[in-house]
Amino acid sequence: MNIVLLGAPGAGKGTQAQKLVQEYGVAHISTGDLLRAAVKAGTKLGVKAKGYMDEGKLVPDELVVDLVKERLEAEDAQRGFILDGFPRNSAQAVVLDSALAEMGKNLDAALLVDVKADVIVSRLSSRRTCKECGYTAPAGTDKCPTCGGEMYQRDDDKPETIQKRLDVYETQTSPLVEYYRGKDMLKVVDGDRPVDEVYADVKELLAL
Ligand code: AP5
Repeated sequence: MNIVLLGAPGAGKGTQAQKLVQEYGVAHISTGDLLRAAVKAGTKLGVKAKGYMDEGKLVPDELVVDLVKERLEAEDAQRGFILDGFPRNSAQAVVLDSALAEMGKNLDAALLVDVKADVIVSRLSSRRTCKECGYTAPAGTDKCPTCGGEMYQRDDDKPETIQKRLDVYETQTSPLVEYYRGKDMLKVVDGDRPVDEVYADVKELLAL
């Protein structure tokens, strides 16, 4: 299973990826998680990325692309991978195509988790994220159900940044829907339903 997850911020990409990883043991390659880990560790890349992330802008491609290539080559990704948050613009999609071709790999599908903007604003404002493992859950969950870590509100889940992220999604990321439709790889799931209903459809669409 080699999949790209598409969808607006807060559509539920990470939530569905967590379920696929749990059931099928594939690698979850989330560029947001990789960048947040770099920020937390205070690496050079993290320091450069932080300002863009806090403002809800995309981090420059050159900072993200090598992270993804490295993860695609890691051992756990050889059983399959779910790319969550990458590609985020047309240039990243082209880089991904050529990186996969070089590795002799193919994408099986690009899955769009489709949710309307008003639902997204309310989900993101109430989202809490685990400081340790990145697990996400609605507000009210104080301890991470998977690792016991402390749950916090991401800086970019504040209302003013959420709107900026939605704008960036519309202008830079949503054109990828047509890119993958043109390659006959696009699958669309209605993400505005309970998590398990969405997941059942995800599995059906991916023929799992
Ligand atoms: P990133 O971490 O990728 O954030 P995002 O795409 O904005 O996606 P989110 O993680 O916010 O949402 P999600 O769709 O995973 O939703 P979730 O499952 O958590 O990126 C952050 C930043 O990093 C970017 O702004 C950018 O600066 C930078 N970046 C990352 N990748 C980059 C790249 N490739 N290039 C350049 N810059 C990059 O769900 C949200 C909430 O809703 C949760 O609380 C969840 O519990 C709840 N929920 C989920 N599904 C349901 C459901 N069906 N019903 C009810 N609630 C639900």
